[in-house]
Amino acid sequence: MTDLGFIHKFIPATQPSKPPLLLLHGTGGDENDLIPLGQQLSPGAALLSPRGKVLENGMPRFFRRLAEGIFDLDDLKARTLELAKFIAAARETYGLAAPLAAGFSNGANIAASLLLTQPDALHGALLMRAMLPFEPESLPNLAAKPVLLLSGSSDPMISAAARDRLVTVLQAAGADLVYKALPTGHNLTQNDLIIAAQWLEHIK
Ligand code: MLT
Repeated sequence: MTDLGFIHKFIPATQPSKPPLLLLHGTGGDENDLIPLGQQLSPGAALLSPRGKVLENGMPRFFRRLAEGIFDLDDLKARTLELAKFIAAARETYGLAAPLAAGFSNGANIAASLLLTQPDALHGALLMRAMLPFEPESLPNLAAKPVLLLSGSSDPMISAAARDRLVTVLQAAGADLVYKALPTGHNLTQNDLIIAAQWLEHIK
C-alpha cells in the first residue's frame, strides 16, 4: 500500500454510512494493533490505521516524549500537522469522509492534539486514556463535535489533574463531550468497549 507519508493499513467500509475510524495505537503498537478493536467497535466502518513514526527504544509512538507524561512540544506540534496531512491525503486517495479518531494512550493524546489544533481533520474522537497534551494558547471551535473520553480512575500513567484539564478544555471549546472515569487503570477493559460501541452507534 503506498504509504501517503505513514505506513498504514486501510480497510474499506462495508457500511459506508458509518464514519471512518482513524485508529491511533499506544506506545509500542503498530498499524495492526487496533484493527480488531475497530472492527468490534464499529462493524462495517472504514478503518484507517497509521503507524506512529517516532521510535522510543524501538517502540513506535506518534510524538516524542522526554519522560512519561512530559512531551516534546515542538515535536508534538510538527507530528500533529504531519498526521493531519496524512488524513487529508488518505481521504482523497480512499474517498473518505472526515474520520472519527479512536486513540489509545499515546494515540489518544495525539488525537487530542489534532482536536486542539486541526479540528477540521476529525469528525470527532474516542479518546481512551488521554490527557491534555499541551496548554492551548487559544481554544479551537469544537462546537457539537462528538468526543468520548474514557479514563481509568486509578491510571498510574495519567494524573487526575491532567485528564480533568482535558475535560475542562474540551468543554470550553464546545465539544459534545461524554466523559467517564472507570474504576480501572491504564489498560482497556470490557466496560470501555461496551461504552465505546454504544456511543459509536449514535454518531452520525
Ligand atoms: C504518552 O506518552 O502519550 C503518554 O505518556 C501515554 C503513553 O504513551 O502511554
